[in-house]
Amino acid sequence: MIKEITAQELDAEQFILDKVKEINEAVGDGIAINALSGGVDSSTVTMLGHRALGDRLKTVFIENGLMREGEAEQVASLFRELGVTVDVVDARQEFLTALEGITDPEEKREAITQTFYVEVFGRLVRESEAKYLLQGTILTDVDETVAGIKRQHNVFEQLGIDPEDAFGYRIIEPLIQVRKDGVRKIGQALGLPAEAFERIPFPGPALSARVIGAVTAERIETVRQATVIVEQLLKDTGAFQYMAILHEDRVTGMRDGQRDFGQQIEVRCWDSIDARTATPTKLPFETLERVAREIILKVPGIVSVTYNIASKPPSTIEAI
Ligand code: XMP
Repeated sequence: MIKEITAQELDAEQFILDKVKEINEAVGDGIAINALSGGVDSSTVTMLGHRALGDRLKTVFIENGLMREGEAEQVASLFRELGVTVDVVDARQEFLTALEGITDPEEKREAITQTFYVEVFGRLVRESEAKYLLQGTILTDVDETVAGIKRQHNVFEQLGIDPEDAFGYRIIEPLIQVRKDGVRKIGQALGLPAEAFERIPFPGPALSARVIGAVTAERIETVRQATVIVEQLLKDTGAFQYMAILHEDRVTGMRDGQRDFGQQIEVRCWDSIDARTATPTKLPFETLERVAREIILKVPGIVSVTYNIASKPPSTIEAI
């Protein structure tokens, strides 16, 4: 049983001192590696790990082909300014191949997990001789996985999987006792800029969590373009998280006077504190109309845009 540290009771400075000590003790004079996606959790772990290990922590950004527009360059340049070198690893083909032909949500998540931990990280760990992977698993990830709701990509021990047996390296999870609101406090105390610690959450399986049905390079590109619009138009709403989801079923539409049996984008925008429960943001209708208009105008093949007004539970935040 993991003992929760709530954001209210968290003393971020003391937490950082404790974790730096724990990471140092675990890694000794060895090398560790960590994957930075630019999200709050992995950004915070990157800063924590560098404070503990300096250059003995090797930070990589895995370009899995499922990330948002321009994400690799943005993240690498932000961390360069913070004094952290980020190696961008091109693994696009590996992920797309692993996802080929899979439509079941949990099978998709499993394919991502295997590709990430066995193939890509297995290789990186062998090359770098690191024995430890530092990662930003948080308590909400564990809760939902253990409850059997969603297999979060980064949870093992609680499922009875020993990473050392399964992958050949150990995993250190300094954030496992906190939730998103706590991570933000720690990230801020570590000197992350607001654009990093206030960033909306983005899931490990990235845009593949937002494609219902088959994941192909083309369908990822469609949801990527819709994501640019949704994030741009909803960034000042103060919402916890917002996203575009590409549906599998088509609907009849029309374009240039012709029948167009087109695709559908669902928009979700959530109010939440810690992602355990969430309610749809009461967006002004004009905002929703603008989002729909822009998506239909700019994203090829979309003829329908809907807004989800269900709460979590029974919905979950991501569609997959
Ligand atoms: P759900 O969809 O389960 O999402 O209501 C709760 C929060 O977790 C994020 N999420 C993930 N984060 N790995 C992660 O690190 C995952 O596999 C994953 N799946 C969902 C989601 O974006 C939301 O903030």
